[in-house]
Amino acid sequence: MKAVILAGGSGTRLYPVTQNVNKHLLPIYNKPMIYYPISLAMLIGIRDIIFVITPQDEEIYRKLFVHLGKIGLKVDYVIQEKPRGLAEGLILVREKVKKEPIFYLLGDNILFGHGLSEILKEAKQFVEEKKGAYVFGYYVPDPERFGVVEFDKEGKVLSIEEKPKKPKSNYAIIGIYFFDERATDFALEVKPSKRGELEITSVLEEYLKEQTLRVKLLGRGFAWFDAGTHESFLEAGEFVYTIEKKTGLMIGCIEEIAYRNGWINADTLLSIAKVMSKTYYGEYLLSLVSKRCLG
Ligand code: DAU
Repeated sequence: MKAVILAGGSGTRLYPVTQNVNKHLLPIYNKPMIYYPISLAMLIGIRDIIFVITPQDEEIYRKLFVHLGKIGLKVDYVIQEKPRGLAEGLILVREKVKKEPIFYLLGDNILFGHGLSEILKEAKQFVEEKKGAYVFGYYVPDPERFGVVEFDKEGKVLSIEEKPKKPKSNYAIIGIYFFDERATDFALEVKPSKRGELEITSVLEEYLKEQTLRVKLLGRGFAWFDAGTHESFLEAGEFVYTIEKKTGLMIGCIEEIAYRNGWINADTLLSIAKVMSKTYYGEYLLSLVSKRCLG
């Protein structure tokens, strides 16, 4: 399975901060926002990642891709000329993913929780073996900002709506999706919504119609952020800071995951750590080698 990470868009909800800088490279506490979705793919053993980026960010992303190559990832990218919506990313990567299932992640989503890797592995296995789409619902006080899922009393999914004015539940569909190989076909059929975008929820509706959409609710043990607004951006950074400080372990540290996965050896990790030796991030990487990764 390949991962596809969406790092396009215009970031208008973070203006003026993102008027001249790509949102996904901004720091969520001590590392770029995009490290968090990358780390989720790595945690479930995915090394092939395709990024969807804007034409103006190509050069800067190429630099990031060199680093990702050093930690054992196979990186590719497609250019999205205009932010025409999340479903367009599926169309753009169609030729590259061929007829394979996809782990599809929004570059501004951050998810953390106990047992997360296991849950993601289960979802991956589900779409590989049983087909369909596997997504996650999360309780939010402001569902009108998101894709919203409605359930009946038995927990059966009744509807999915993008940014509804009158949400039918408080459950947002988070920006982390597992799709079987038909997602790119479904995306080709999507028509622009009232706000002029090719909505990812329209793809989910196709799966819902044929009853192959699975929605797993993430409960109390999980923290999810869509870091696309000033407030949620700050909240995400504060959260990462607090957890890392308390536990002494990092969230979304891609070099650590590569090392633990056996994709890079201690020498490579040390050489990366040296470049960052003036930071706690660098010290942390060094400590992984000296502690032999017991954390
Ligand atoms: O965060 C979860 C929500 O993400 C879901 O509940 C919604 O169903 C889904 O539509 C999406 O809503 P947002 O309004 O948060 O999407 P946003 O426009 O912020 O884009 C999400 C990410 O995708 C962001 O990192 C930028 C990137 N993007 C966005 C668009 C519209 C692209 O790469 N290309 C695009 O055309």
